[in-house]
Amino acid sequence: MTSHKTLIATAGIMCIALSSGVSAALDGAGLYRERTCIACHGADGREPVMSDYPKIAGQKAPYLLAQMKKIKDGTRSNDSSIAMKNVMHLISEDEMAVVAEWLAGLPR
Ligand code: HEC
Repeated sequence: MTSHKTLIATAGIMCIALSSGVSAALDGAGLYRERTCIACHGADGREPVMSDYPKIAGQKAPYLLAQMKKIKDGTRSNDSSIAMKNVMHLISEDEMAVVAEWLAGLPR
């Protein structure tokens, strides 16, 4: 019983910590979820929701980062990249670098 209560209290504290931590620094996996990347590129960058959306896991970090920057600033622009450009205001360049490193470390 006691351990149950402790567990519930701990879970409660963790929820508060998580919800108040949104603006704090997130790791690659956290950013990937928070900045909506997961909505299009799917779990771990490997299960895109549309067949013509790219799998981004396991590519080289500098490549990934360069593409993110190009899509954000409009250098890489086409019918499908527009969808992504619309969310890129959510993520800073520093955060993109963190996500790129995380993605690069995942299996393809
Ligand atoms: C609304 C859907 C959508 C969202 C949200 C989205 N993307 Fe994309 N992303 C795309 C599409 C579509 C492309 C391919 C664009 C093209 O063909 O030029 C793409 C391309 C990329 C590429 C280049 C892949 C390659 O092989 O060249 C990277 C890297 C990437 N996205 C990362 C991200 C990250 C990181 C986020 C979150 C900040 C994100 N995307 C959010 C749809 C999305």
